[in-house]
Amino acid sequence: MEIKRICCIGAGYVGGPTMAVIAQKCPHIKVTVVDLNEKRIAAWNDVNTDNIPVYEPGLSDVVAAARGRNLFFSTEVDKAIAEADMIFISVNTPTKTYGVGKGMAADLKYIELCARQIARVAKTDKIVVEKSTLPVRTASAIKDILDHTGNGVQFQILSNPEFLAEGTAVQDLFAPDRVLIGGDTTPEGQKAIQALVDIYANWVPKDRILTTNVWSSELSKLTANAFLAQRVSSINAMSELCEKTGADVNEVARAIGMDSRIGPKFLKSSVGFGGSCFQKDILNLVYIAKSYGLNEVADYWEQVIIMNDHQKRRFAKNIISTLYNTVSGKKITFLGWAFKKDTNDTRESAAIYVADDLLSEQAHLSVYDPKVTEEQILADLNYLDTRSETENTKGIIVENNPYAACEGAHAIAVLTEWDEFKEYDWQKIYDSMLKPAFVFDGRNLLDKKALEKIGFVYQSIGS
Ligand code: UDX
Ligand code: ADP
Repeated sequence: MEIKRICCIGAGYVGGPTMAVIAQKCPHIKVTVVDLNEKRIAAWNDVNTDNIPVYEPGLSDVVAAARGRNLFFSTEVDKAIAEADMIFISVNTPTKTYGVGKGMAADLKYIELCARQIARVAKTDKIVVEKSTLPVRTASAIKDILDHTGNGVQFQILSNPEFLAEGTAVQDLFAPDRVLIGGDTTPEGQKAIQALVDIYANWVPKDRILTTNVWSSELSKLTANAFLAQRVSSINAMSELCEKTGADVNEVARAIGMDSRIGPKFLKSSVGFGGSCFQKDILNLVYIAKSYGLNEVADYWEQVIIMNDHQKRRFAKNIISTLYNTVSGKKITFLGWAFKKDTNDTRESAAIYVADDLLSEQAHLSVYDPKVTEEQILADLNYLDTRSETENTKGIIVENNPYAACEGAHAIAVLTEWDEFKEYDWQKIYDSMLKPAFVFDGRNLLDKKALEKIGFVYQSIGS
């Protein structure tokens, strides 16, 4: 079966970049990305591709190359579904904030709404591809809805988890370590798998395209993220021990990373991992394990989250205790708000939780991030619901100039590892700050020796 038209529901951090790359690599396929959010679609269609809603290095060029040719962004969901041979579901699946599984299970209401919409609109056979991160067995829920409420047309459900990391999405999509496709073992299922394999084969070497059954594919996504997050929590656990004992966590990471069985990646100690996937996926895994009565398995993985929460909290605590046990009325500057560099995504960013703790101690925060808007920063704090919106607005100033953000501050906290921070005139920053001037480097980004030479009191994570 040759796919000529693709529809993707959800124009977010996953759907947008993934579809832009498919469209660029497959000029013979018409790709339409739809979303209910009109503002978001308008931004994807902005004549100036620098204004697209997702910041990713290289993405605006990919969009510029394909948009209007075979890549379209639209709010006409029904029309795009009706036309398509293959439909990707890339809507958000946040952790539930209510009811059974609150704070743990994934909220599938957006997925279910999509499935019902597809069932209502589809008049021809469709291949439906899960692209969002979903708990195992979601495919069967989607299939149930489609088979029982549809117009008698045939649906094949595939799981095609996304492994791209934000900040390197375009690179990851152009040259993925692997593409994973899960489908039914029936002849129709295998045909559907082949249709999706053929799309990726336009640019991905065949030996990197793995096919499995649906459950293995769904669970592999959760497992990959759990293993990655576990590495970060493991090195962060060692960072606290290093601080107490005089070892340097960077040296430890280097030493263990040279063991080829361990490898050098994902061993960077930090203020804690963030992002839309790690925490959500592990909580999901914990929830699934618990629901099968596997309490030891659930506890094992939950510890990765507990360690991460501890790492964020102890960073804030250390700022307070170092600043003579009070930050009340003191200006503290945050360099960075995004959960990692090269993205404007702030979901679960450590910065939000550190800010929350410092605001509770009545600090005055000044924030600079090269890509995150003031509106987003305030929305992140308001979402926590710790204090009123007015209090948040009062406690925080968002600057668009880093030097202004640091002027008159008692301390600077580095929350995101943006490259530009390394290039600043740190002497100038020092001169404009109150003394003693502190730097709390939550990313081990800056040059300790150079800063100490200027006169800063410099504290990193894990040494
Ligand atoms: C992750 C997975 O890497 C990706 O495969 C999956 O598709 C989605 O989830 P992402 O969340 O975009 O991607 O970013 P990632 O690079 O994994 O970083 C996650 C968090 O861990 C960030 O906050 C990052 O700063 C932190 N991290 C990462 C560390 O603190 N130390 C490290 O060594 C690596
Ligand atoms: P992700 O990181 O998984 O891509 P985002 O939140 O960035 O998550 O994007 C998900 C997008 O899906 C949002 O823009 C949201 O408006 C959209 N969305 C959610 N439900 C639907 C739906 N039923 N139909 C169309 N779009 C939807």
